[in-house]
Amino acid sequence: DMNNRINIAIDGPAGAGKSTVARLVANQLSYIYVDTGAMYRAVTWFLTKHGVGPEVPDQVLEHVQHMLIELTPDHGGQRVWVNGEDVTSYIRTPQVNGLVSRYAQIEGLRTHLVQLQRQMALRKGVVMDGRDIGTTVLPDAEVKIFMTATVKERALRRFNEMNDAERTSLEQLEKDISMRDTLDEQREISPLRRAEDAILLDTTEMNIHQVVEKIVSLCRSQMDGE
Ligand code: DC
Repeated sequence: DMNNRINIAIDGPAGAGKSTVARLVANQLSYIYVDTGAMYRAVTWFLTKHGVGPEVPDQVLEHVQHMLIELTPDHGGQRVWVNGEDVTSYIRTPQVNGLVSRYAQIEGLRTHLVQLQRQMALRKGVVMDGRDIGTTVLPDAEVKIFMTATVKERALRRFNEMNDAERTSLEQLEKDISMRDTLDEQREISPLRRAEDAILLDTTEMNIHQVVEKIVSLCRSQMDGE
């Protein structure tokens, strides 16, 4: 029913399976999927390309003003564009993985991206995943999920997602994920944390299908006004 469209916020640490699940939930509901991590990644790629490091926030903000970020649906997934260039395949490299948390700590950059994200959700019918969606970006989202899994399980999932060019060792991935968790949880602005009204979903022992079913059924109850 188009008349009671809702917004769905899915937060959690790296590799919990948020993006796969969010994409499938969006497809089942015919909603729009917004991967906010991809926006932080696109910024990281763009600034690295222009030689602007996270240690110079003023220049970061200056460059971001000249950056048009677009997300478009693609075969049930999402493509990411920067100033008209398709950067989808550039934003999941080890280089971007290693730097993105540092850029994501810059307050002005977060304010800018949060504004864009709120615009994308104005008409409702959005499934948005990230770290601060339920707490900061869409505090009024009708359904909020906080997805977790153990570090070991998350490293394994990410490992299986990577192609040969991207792949690093499982051990290295576990280290990277723990380090990224720490940075994401401890930053001062919009740290990763569960909103009080978010439903905690530990997916360590669940498969994707089970997680998607669970979230879709929560959404349907919400739409039916329960
Ligand atoms: O979900 P991901 O791994 O693609 O996210 C990439 C980085 O961006 C990660 O270090 C956390 C950060 N991020 C954030 O700070 N806020 C968001 N809403 C989404 C991602």
